[in-house]
Amino acid sequence: MSWIRASTLNWIQFLCVKIIKSGRVPKHIAFIMDGNRRYAQKNNVRKFEGHSQGFDKLAETLQWCLDLGIPEVTVYAFSIENFKRSQEEVDALMELSQQKFERLLSEKMFCCFARDKLMEHGVCIRVIGNLSLLPQNIRKLIAQAMILTKDNKKTFLNVAFAYTAREEMAQAVRTAVSGVERDALQLSDVTQQLLSNCLYTSTSPDPELLIRTSGEVRLSDYLLWQVSCSCIYFADVLWPEFSIWHLLAAIIKYQRSYAQLVPVQQADEMANGCLNERISLFHTCLAASRLASLEELNHAVA
Ligand SMILES: *[C@@H]1O[C@H](CO)[C@@H](O)[C@H](O)[C@H]1NC(C)=O
Repeated sequence: MSWIRASTLNWIQFLCVKIIKSGRVPKHIAFIMDGNRRYAQKNNVRKFEGHSQGFDKLAETLQWCLDLGIPEVTVYAFSIENFKRSQEEVDALMELSQQKFERLLSEKMFCCFARDKLMEHGVCIRVIGNLSLLPQNIRKLIAQAMILTKDNKKTFLNVAFAYTAREEMAQAVRTAVSGVERDALQLSDVTQQLLSNCLYTSTSPDPELLIRTSGEVRLSDYLLWQVSCSCIYFADVLWPEFSIWHLLAAIIKYQRSYAQLVPVQQADEMANGCLNERISLFHTCLAASRLASLEELNHAVA
């Protein structure tokens, strides 16, 4: 299946989407797609099948987000902690990711009619996480997909892969410290805003809504820095069973709490202040060096 599924809303769902859209919809939603394994167990199928259906659900959810006019989505695909699962399951997940990235790339290369809907919809895909923890062939595919879609500016899909929030923060601190050591930064430049810009998510606004499925009520080391002011919604449904009604319910909750969220977010933005020239230069160099390492991966022999 493609990364985005053709719209399948019936008229009543379509109508509800229209009504919800007349209010404020979040500009960025983050998902913890939890429950694929329990779904497999419940339905007596292999874990791989559960994960595969989980991917299909992602494709469907992305289409709903497009229908709703939500320009950015971040999903937790694979945590660094997941490496501790059985070798068989880790291999199966890597295999699934490989298939999906290959599909994304091949559809672009071979013809212009059946391009992945991701390209058709102008989606920019970004993988956030420590790529060096992944097998070489997947790293290369990820780099290719990111380079292929990097000029798409309409909508954004961030895939957290080999990701945990605390590793991301440690990485950001290391980046800032190395800037100070090289005299590219002064110690006083190391502010909240600077660290935000050193995170893997530096180019994204913070998610306004975080949705976790499967009834678990915790954040599991996901976007801890970025969700400090977000509305958080826990849905009591396994991810492959997530429906548009769950998504709409989450957005209604967000709309109800939006009035309270605004002052917090504004205070947050005020605290961020403005950039000096040194910091701007540092960020420009950081972005350039990230792109350069993608190019390098892209040209590496897998
Ligand atoms: C990624 O993880 C490796 C191994 O734990 C570590 O050495 C490296 O510094 C990390 N890279 C980044 C960018 O955090």
